[in-house]
Amino acid sequence: MLIPDHEYTERGRWHGRLTNKAIPDHDDAIEALRGEDREKLAAIWHQRAAMERRVADSFEVIRDALIRLRAPQALIDLAVRAVDDEYRHTELSRLVASRFAGRELPMPEKLALEVPKHKGASAELRDTLFVVGQCVLNETTAGAFLECCVNHATGPVAVIALRELLSDEIDHGRIGWAHLASLDHATRSEVARWMFPMAYLNLQIWKKETPYDAAHRDALTQHGAPPAEVIHAALVGALRDLIVPGMKELEMDTSAIEEWLDAGAQTDRPPLELIR
Ligand SMILES: [Fe+2]
Ligand SMILES: [Fe+2]
Repeated sequence: MLIPDHEYTERGRWHGRLTNKAIPDHDDAIEALRGEDREKLAAIWHQRAAMERRVADSFEVIRDALIRLRAPQALIDLAVRAVDDEYRHTELSRLVASRFAGRELPMPEKLALEVPKHKGASAELRDTLFVVGQCVLNETTAGAFLECCVNHATGPVAVIALRELLSDEIDHGRIGWAHLASLDHATRSEVARWMFPMAYLNLQIWKKETPYDAAHRDALTQHGAPPAEVIHAALVGALRDLIVPGMKELEMDTSAIEEWLDAGAQTDRPPLELIR
C-alpha cells in the first residue's frame, strides 16, 4: 500500500514490523458503530495519518539541524529513527482509518511542512529552535494528546494503536530535552525568549487540527478522539505540568508562558509574526 519513498524500514524501532503488538484484525466495538460514526472516525484517523507524514518531514529537518550543531551521536541516531517512526505512525494511522472505513484507504494527501523562519535568530540558534520547537514542545504535547486519547478510549484497535504511538513520542520528546540540557546558560536564555511564541503557535495548531464533532461525541471518544475541550485541557496541562517545570529545572525564564496560562491560554490572536 505504501509508495516506496514513504516507507518505514527494517532499520527502524521494530526492525521492519509496523508495531510491537499486533493490531487485531477484528474489533467488535467497531462493528457495533453506526455507519456515520465509522465514516467520521475513518476521516479523523486518515487525517492523523497525513499529520504523521508531515512530522516525518519535520524530523528530517531536526536530524539535519542536529548534525549541523554537532550534537551527540545518540541524539542524531534517535532523530534518524524518528523519521522512520513517523512513517510507521503514518501507516499505522492509515491502517486504523481503514478498519473504521471497512475498506483499504489510500495514503493520505501530503501536507506541506511550514518550517518556522525564526526571524532575527542566528543560523545556529535557528537550528536549536527547530529541535526545541519540534521535540520539547510538539512531541511533549503530542504525548499529552495521545495519553488523553488513550485514557478516554475503550475500543481495542484504538487503544493498541494509541499506546504504540505514545511509546515513540516519549523518545522523540527526549531528543529536545537532552539537547536543551546540553546548551550553555546564555544560549538557553536566548531560547527561553522564543518559548512563549512557539508554545502559543503549537497550541493554536493543535486546536485547529483537532476539532472533533460534538454530534458524534461518545463514539469518537470511545475510539480515540475525545472532545476538543478535553484535548485542549490536556495540552494546557502538559505545558503547565511538564514543559514549564522542565524549563525551570534548566533555569529558563517561564514568566511569559505562565502569565498566558494563568490568563486562560487563549489562542485567538493573529499568527505571531515573530517566529514565522
Ligand atoms: Fe508520530
Ligand atoms: Fe513523534
